[in-house]
Amino acid sequence: TNIAIFASGSGSNFDKIAKKAETGHLTCNVKILICDKEQAMVMEKAQALGIPVFSFRAKDYENKEAFEKEIVDRLQEEGVELVVLAGYMRLIGTTLLEAFPNRIVNIHPSLLPSFPGKDAVQQALDARVKVTGVTVHFVDEGMDTGPIIAQEAVRVTTEDDVTSLQSKIQQVEHRLYPAVIQQLVEGEMYRVTT
Ligand code: GRF
Repeated sequence: TNIAIFASGSGSNFDKIAKKAETGHLTCNVKILICDKEQAMVMEKAQALGIPVFSFRAKDYENKEAFEKEIVDRLQEEGVELVVLAGYMRLIGTTLLEAFPNRIVNIHPSLLPSFPGKDAVQQALDARVKVTGVTVHFVDEGMDTGPIIAQEAVRVTTEDDVTSLQSKIQQVEHRLYPAVIQQLVEGEMYRVTT
């Protein structure tokens, strides 16, 4: 299965997925990184692994449809079958959703539907919950909505601050996301939606 990863930030999830794919622990090919931030650390990670990058600045385009059309073209050229969002800080529009129906997944650092949107880890701390976690879900037009595929809980202790909780959550992400992607590439895509 050919996959594309979309990211805007540090790219630790990108790195884990790409390395597992390279060593055959994940039976898919990471064909391309789509990145909307020129300065993002994830760009260097892609370069180090020799993975092609399509980077763009949203402000260079008239609207979302215009850059998403270009992205869809690139994805089709690469034969991409599954789109993996890993810290892509932008809502997916109809152009991409229609080109990849039920083929776009996202990871979010909370147990959705709690704490959608930005700063989910801080939101959990502010709410003083004792348990938060990680969600992998199919992407629809909403912000962190769409059918849930997998979730894993992470305990919050009284000692936790945003850094420590974030790091516990990322450890879970780095294990859960590759596992879910493997399930999806093994053809369980439909089973998990129903
Ligand atoms: C992750 O915490 C993910 O849940 C959220 O963005 C973060 C990306 O982290 N959507 P990284 O760039 O993969 O390190």
